Amino acid sequence: MKIVIISGNPKTDGLCQSIIAAAKQGAEEGGAVVDEIRLCDYQLSPCRVCGDGWGTCREENYCTYESDGFAEIRERVWAGDALILATPVYWGETSESLKSFLDRLRRCERNQSGLRDKPVLLIASAGGTGNGLLTCLEQLDRFCRHTGAVIFDYIAINRWNNDYKRTAAFAAAKALATGRQPGETVPMPPLGR
Ligand SMILES: Cc1cc2nc3c(=O)[nH]c(=O)nc-3n(C[C@H](O)[C@H](O)[C@H](O)COP(=O)(O)O)c2cc1C
Repeated sequence: MKIVIISGNPKTDGLCQSIIAAAKQGAEEGGAVVDEIRLCDYQLSPCRVCGDGWGTCREENYCTYESDGFAEIRERVWAGDALILATPVYWGETSESLKSFLDRLRRCERNQSGLRDKPVLLIASAGGTGNGLLTCLEQLDRFCRHTGAVIFDYIAINRWNNDYKRTAAFAAAKALATGRQPGETVPMPPLGR
């Protein structure tokens, strides 16, 4: 099992990165090989909305301007069996780096279906007021619906829940790595364990 983490986090420390690290650790403990892609390490352009908005992307599954690193990342994403999308919450949305990458990837998915039926774990970290988690996750949810990816779970972290949500991120990524399917019923442990 290969799990690709697409991180829209510009920082290498702090709350958001600690949750990404927990998820990575969980995935590895579950036996997955993890490929963490930090979008801020690239100089990706936003979608240029070429061809009167239609572009070549929707029909031919590639971006005309993909030599900026987009093609390489897209191939790595498509090579994964499962995906983790992780972002800090900025203004109630995903980070700009993640949003502009997903805008382009979504367009290339129409016929290729590189993400169709793949499980995706969504992680959003709101380190300020804690507001905007829902709208941020909703944005990621919509990306999954547009691409046919299957949402495995939503992890919403803020400053006052990060202790137990870190555990949840670890456990969710581990469950993802061990091949648990969304929609599958698992036994309920007794309360308190
Ligand atoms: C431009 C910008 C906008 C932000 N908007 C929000 C927000 O809407 N809600 C919130 O709770 N935190 C917001 N934050 C705080 C980030 O969510 C926080 O930095 C992030 O969760 C990561 O925490 P970390 O810096 O410790 O990794 C914002 C931060 C920045 C830089």
